[in-house]
Amino acid sequence: MAVLFLSTPERGAVFRDLFARDLPDMPFHVGQAPDPEAVRYIVAWTAPEGLARDYPNLRLIFSTGAGVDQFDLPALPPRVGVVRMLEPGIARQMREYAVMATLAMHRDLPAYLDSQRREAWTPRANTPAAERRVGVMGLGNLGQTVLAGLRPFGFDLAGWSRSPRGVEGVTCLTDLDAFLARTDILLCLLPLTAETEGMLNADLFDRLPMGARLVHLGRGRQLDHGALRAALDTGRIAQAMLDVTDPEPLPPGHWLWRDPRVIVTPHIASQTVAREGALHVLAGIQADLRGDSPAGLVDRARGY
Ligand code: NAP
Ligand code: GLV
Repeated sequence: MAVLFLSTPERGAVFRDLFARDLPDMPFHVGQAPDPEAVRYIVAWTAPEGLARDYPNLRLIFSTGAGVDQFDLPALPPRVGVVRMLEPGIARQMREYAVMATLAMHRDLPAYLDSQRREAWTPRANTPAAERRVGVMGLGNLGQTVLAGLRPFGFDLAGWSRSPRGVEGVTCLTDLDAFLARTDILLCLLPLTAETEGMLNADLFDRLPMGARLVHLGRGRQLDHGALRAALDTGRIAQAMLDVTDPEPLPPGHWLWRDPRVIVTPHIASQTVAREGALHVLAGIQADLRGDSPAGLVDRARGY
């Protein structure tokens, strides 16, 4: 029984030390396993080529990130469970980023950055936070953490998810129309699935109030970038902050590099913390060895 680690050597060193401390009898290989048949667990961002053939005894593949859309889930053998990264550093960083981005949208930061570049001293009237309706798509681990981070600012908070949820201080909705109609600042924290791909499109933007703002934190392929540009041009969306785009990185000359209404960051809202990630994987393997489900086990049919 062994673990194969397929990420950077720096992260591998952190994982190796913690495995030696907490699971000393479990061989831990970085990059390559001398006996692939012994591999029960893989830690990786994407599935290695020939996974079904080369690792006949694989039980679990642990994603090094919170998302699992980078795996071709239907192509994995049914015996292999997929586990998303649930280390607390990802949620901490996402809360920081989402608070920063929501405040940037609330206080018109893109417009002020543009004014500064144009040497224009142009104050705008501030809107009280209580009058700003913030809506988070996705009420999972990250959506709920972000909403908790936003609560102290006094925004009028709502969240939207597939199944009904209850989050303190948040109007939780499953009706997308009702959710969009009351959302001035929209944050997307949905996983990328067949259902959410392309979901941030013209039809959805049209259901937002005029002058809404968008913070996109999920995956680039959820956003129709052309529809965003058109919505910015009509004023349906006043400004946006995108941490994820399609493609990544943006190609030279792409309109998003220069549009003053949009702030783009290079998919850095959250980065997995190696030590906390190792502890999550260790706990998952220990659960599996006891016959329990690891935390973060993905529903492969649902895609998240
Ligand atoms: P999660 O715990 O699995 O939560 C997903 C939420 O989305 C759930 O509330 C789920 O609804 C909802 N949802 C999924 N599909 C839906 C649909 N079709 N309609 C309505 N609601 C739907 O996921 P998470 O850990 O919060 O992470 C969310 C995503 O954030 C990740 O998949 C990843 O793509 C992204 N992410 C981005 C970064 C970054 O740096 N930008 C970092 C980490 C993660 P139910 O509650 O009904 O199941
Ligand atoms: C980053 O985007 C992640 O999925 O952890």
